[in-house]
Amino acid sequence: THPAIPETTMLPHSLLLCLLFLTPTSASYANDGFAYDGFSHAMLLIDGVASIAGRALMLTDGAAQSVGHAYYGSRFDSISSFSTTFVFIITPSYSDLGGYGLAFTISATADSLLDALPSQYMGIFNSQNIGNVTNHLFAVELDTIRNSEFGDIDANHVGIDVNTLVSINSHTAGYYTPNGTFSPLSLISGKPMQVWVDYDDNSHHVNVSLAPYLEEKPQRPLLSSTVNLTSILPSSVYVGFASATGTLSSIHSIIGWSFNPNGEAKPLNYSALSGVIQDVRRNDQSGSQVQLGAQSGSHISGGVITTVVILSVFITIVIIIALYVYMKKARKSGEWEIDCGSSSFTYKDLAAATNGFSDRMLLGKGGFGKVYKGLLQNSKQDVAIKRVSPESKQGMKEFIAEITILGHLRHRNLVQLLGYSRHKSELLLVYDYMPNGSLDRVLHGQDKRTVDWFHRFNIIKGIASGLCYLHEDWEKVVIHRDIKASNVLLDNEMNGRLGDFGLARLHNHGTDAHTTHLAGTWGYIAPELARLGRATKATDVFAFGVFMLEVACGRRPIQVNDSDGEPVLLTDWVVDAWESGSLLKTVDPKLEDYVREEAELVLKLGLLCSHPVPSARPCMRLVMQYLVKDVLLPDFQSSFLSLTSRDEEFGQHILSCPSVATTITGLSGGR
Ligand SMILES: *[C@@H]1O[C@H](CO)[C@@H](O)[C@H](O)[C@H]1NC(C)=O
Ligand SMILES: *[C@@H]1O[C@H](CO)[C@@H](O)[C@H](O)[C@H]1NC(C)=O
Ligand SMILES: *[C@@H]1O[C@H](CO)[C@@H](O)[C@H](O)[C@H]1NC(C)=O
Ligand SMILES: *[C@@H]1O[C@H](CO)[C@@H](O)[C@H](O)[C@H]1NC(C)=O
Ligand SMILES: *[C@@H]1O[C@H](CO)[C@@H](O)[C@H](O)[C@H]1NC(C)=O
Repeated sequence: THPAIPETTMLPHSLLLCLLFLTPTSASYANDGFAYDGFSHAMLLIDGVASIAGRALMLTDGAAQSVGHAYYGSRFDSISSFSTTFVFIITPSYSDLGGYGLAFTISATADSLLDALPSQYMGIFNSQNIGNVTNHLFAVELDTIRNSEFGDIDANHVGIDVNTLVSINSHTAGYYTPNGTFSPLSLISGKPMQVWVDYDDNSHHVNVSLAPYLEEKPQRPLLSSTVNLTSILPSSVYVGFASATGTLSSIHSIIGWSFNPNGEAKPLNYSALSGVIQDVRRNDQSGSQVQLGAQSGSHISGGVITTVVILSVFITIVIIIALYVYMKKARKSGEWEIDCGSSSFTYKDLAAATNGFSDRMLLGKGGFGKVYKGLLQNSKQDVAIKRVSPESKQGMKEFIAEITILGHLRHRNLVQLLGYSRHKSELLLVYDYMPNGSLDRVLHGQDKRTVDWFHRFNIIKGIASGLCYLHEDWEKVVIHRDIKASNVLLDNEMNGRLGDFGLARLHNHGTDAHTTHLAGTWGYIAPELARLGRATKATDVFAFGVFMLEVACGRRPIQVNDSDGEPVLLTDWVVDAWESGSLLKTVDPKLEDYVREEAELVLKLGLLCSHPVPSARPCMRLVMQYLVKDVLLPDFQSSFLSLTSRDEEFGQHILSCPSVATTITGLSGGR
């Protein structure tokens, strides 16, 4: 029986707790380490979402953005030539989509990882301490996401880490067969696999191997590196595991673990492990909610009850202390709370946050569904919640994959996706709430409230910077496809933030691949996009050009003429004004005061960006440089705007970056 365990599965994951599981049988820990074929009697320190589920050690339970740790219950005072082996299973939440990973760690203290963050920090580091030599940490990571920030080679790799997640050595997951060929393995296959880590204190050599369960330890290790652990670790250390999930999640389980601080680790007993693997399968099937009490049958002795009572009291005290620490910390650091916040996005939470998606909480309706304002009950954080229903099952899968990518995008001028929740055929996307609404309302709304030139110019620069990040700075090219004033939201400091990025394209995944729906909004659609239906960086730049004009002129991209009722394109209207020598007359009359040079720059650059010929448009990096006045906007005449690529003069005026007109269709395309 496992009397204490049901309690731990109920602990709020965000409370980082240490619980000590002590059983008399394992209280003695000799200098030659330990071997656990299952963890029901293991002496472990566990925290975060980690728990003992059945006989398995479940480091994460499938919740998004969560962290779990487990250490051997006592420190080792001297480790020299250590050796360890463990068997693990990573079960991704959606068939072949899983997020983040697990690591074997040797650390100076058991609570040194308490401030660790999920997602790309793997539950080992946070943004402050990553890379700091004072971490005194050695880790072997099994990482299931590619993160270019840390130089990851691919989304499925094993790495040796010292004090940071930029591995000193890493390799695609797999093993060398006896005949010397490399055989790849998928970490998120849901199949058990075994890892060996061996360190030689004399040569400072560390070997890491991986193999399918029940296969021999490979002769040739996957990774072999020289690391002087004496200079990295203090003499007294904890050994254990850290694990984390991201926007996408997996269940990370350890089946068996053997460790010896000064010599060969004892072999695992595979016949005992097969039962533990069955427990993991059961856990996976029943989701993350494991009811151990029910499993262990009806026989509960008086001694056990006493233990439960004592443990409950102990746990209550720990919870109170932890709550206090948590509240204090949450107040101190908003960032921490946001990073972990998304773990709790269940449909129930989101329904509670919006009074059951009440119409009173409706912020608006978009092309992709309704958007609600919500107040998360736990963190008291304001969020915007968008309900989307992809049109097909296939659409849903791709949607989730791409949303994961979007969840990794971080830029101060993008509306941050905090997480998502899936409910039946619906996806609920949770974003930062933007208190000042959309720029569209401010520019064209009925109310007198407007934005002064300083802020408008700032918003233009901000959106340019956000778009530049999507196009050029991130590992994949992201085409926004729907840049317009109503997709620019204003935060509490009136900074512009681009929302809905990628969603235009995402939404089309669900529909028939042969019929390309034209995504975008009239007035912002580049001529070649209307003709060919293919979005590129250049079509985004076109829309951004129209957006710049819209912000400067306070006029919609297509406006009906008062005199004859004919629709007029904003770009044509501005060009006409320029040709008649009154370019600055197009500036929004609501602006009492503006900087003439800046307004002229914005108008001319806006026209250049919305040039009918894609190759004449500058790339976003160049647009940024013009806007911050690092590079002077070339002097061109209004006649340049009506040139076609067949005109002879045209070539002399090309100022764009070479890549802007090439066709790269969004998220799935690399550069
Ligand atoms: C490393 O951590 C120490 C102690 O926490 C701190 O004083 C120092 O500034 C950190 N160094 C860096 C580069 O972050
Ligand atoms: C090497 O062994 C693996 C299985 O262990 C086998 O699939 C592969 O074909 C072998 N390759 C060669 C070149 O013998
Ligand atoms: C690491 O692997 C190499 C090659 O198989 C072997 O010679 C060396 O002894 C191994 N070192 C340790 C510490 O196991
Ligand atoms: C390893 O580090 C220790 C402590 O810093 C140092 O005394 C020792 O000389 C180092 N060994 C090698 C081979 O660099
Ligand atoms: C291995 O585990 C099985 C099943 O739990 C047990 O019967 C057997 O005695 C164990 N073998 C060793 C060598 O401990």
